[in-house]
Amino acid sequence: MAKVTVISRNGEGREVEAENGLSLMEVIRDNGFDELLALCGGCCSCATCHVHIDPAFSDRLPKMSADEDDLLDSTDHRNETSRLSCQIPVSDALDGLTVTIAPED
Ligand code: FES
Repeated sequence: MAKVTVISRNGEGREVEAENGLSLMEVIRDNGFDELLALCGGCCSCATCHVHIDPAFSDRLPKMSADEDDLLDSTDHRNETSRLSCQIPVSDALDGLTVTIAPED
């Protein structure tokens, strides 16, 4: 279990509890952040779960796959903190993370 702060597109942050084994996308969506569309359901084929990750946590995340990299290239708001939240499994290592939902493309 990790506590994660989610910043929505209007800039408001809320701390939520993230259960180990879920993806970060599932945690965000299940806590009512409807703006994270996650249209493909976590299959790494839509990029609508795009988030920006606190850089302090970047070395605790799994390496980005080529598919994730390609999909992020198709978004307008990619930067060095961009990830697809469906590709990030929750673990205790993410406790204290701040994640910001990326602007809509
Ligand atoms: S939910 Fe579609 S790529 Fe993450």
